[in-house]
Amino acid sequence: MNNQVLVTFSGQKEVGKKVARKLKIDFSEIKLERLPDGESRLRFGKEIEGKEVVLLQSFYPDINDKIVETLLAGYTADRYARKVTLVALYFPYLREDKEFEKHEAVSAKIMADLFDVFDKVYICEPHLHRFKKLNEFFPNASKISLTDAISKFVSKLSKPLIIGPDEESEQWAEYVARVLGVRYDTLKKKRLGPRKVKTISTLNLKDIDEKSFVIIDDMISTGGTMIEVVKYLKKFKKKMYVIAFHGLFVEKALEKLKKLGVDVITTNTIKNKVSKIDVSDSIAEVLK
Ligand code: R5P
Repeated sequence: MNNQVLVTFSGQKEVGKKVARKLKIDFSEIKLERLPDGESRLRFGKEIEGKEVVLLQSFYPDINDKIVETLLAGYTADRYARKVTLVALYFPYLREDKEFEKHEAVSAKIMADLFDVFDKVYICEPHLHRFKKLNEFFPNASKISLTDAISKFVSKLSKPLIIGPDEESEQWAEYVARVLGVRYDTLKKKRLGPRKVKTISTLNLKDIDEKSFVIIDDMISTGGTMIEVVKYLKKFKKKMYVIAFHGLFVEKALEKLKKLGVDVITTNTIKNKVSKIDVSDSIAEVLK
C-alpha cells in the first residue's frame, strides 16, 4: 500500500484526503499554475516514480480546463509511475453518446480515446443512456456506484416513497427502494430542449400513505427535470426531498428548486451548498 499515492487537484482535497486516509496511502496535491495567456502549468508535488498513482478529479465547474489539466497530469504520471488510475467524481460529455446530427462530435467516444492514457478510469455514477455499460465505448473505464451512499441517507427519512423523475432513473429508485424495503414509482418525461422538459405521466401507485416523496436522479443541471416533477407532485401535499448524485446547478437551479419549498441534497462529487452525502466510502471500497 505504501507504494500508492492519491493525488488531487485543489478542489478535490477534502474527498481525496478522506479516501487516502481510509486506504492508508499517501496523499499529495498537484501544483497548478495559470500562465498569463491562460495555459495551465502543472507538476506533481511529491515523488511518483515507480509508484501507483491514483488521480482524483471532478470535472465541474470549468469542464474544458479540467479536461486539459487532467490529461496533462495523466500523461506526466504515465512517464514516471508504475500504474496510473483516474477516479472521476463527475465525468463530463457522456450525454453526447451518438451523432444526433450529421458531422456532430460524438463527445463521449472522443473522451474515451483521450483518456486512454490512464491504465484505469473509475467514474462515479456515469450518465449512461444508449450504452448500458461504460466499457462498451470506454474500454479502460468502470463505474463506481453511489446508490449505497444515497440509500444510507434516505434511510434516515421517515416513511419515504421513492420517485424516479424519468425512465432512466428507475434503476436508482428501484435500488434504493429495494435496499430500504419501501415503495417506488417512476414518471415519464419528454425533453423539449436543453432547458425544458415536460412530465408526461402520472404516478402508478395508489393509496399513498407514505410521509414524504424522495425524488432521485443522477444529476441536476438546469433543474428543469426536478422542477417539473416537484410541480406535478405538489398536489399530494407531502414533504419532498430532491436528491441527485451530481449537483451542477447551472443558471440558479438550486435557488429555483428551494423556492418550491423542497429539501435539496446531493453527494459531494461536485462541491456545492447542499453536497451533504459523502462518497469517500464508496470510492475507497472500490479502490482497496
Ligand atoms: C437526463 O436524462 C438526466 O438523467 C437528468 O434528468 C438531466 O440531465 C437533468 O438535467 P436538468 O436538470 O437540466 O433537467
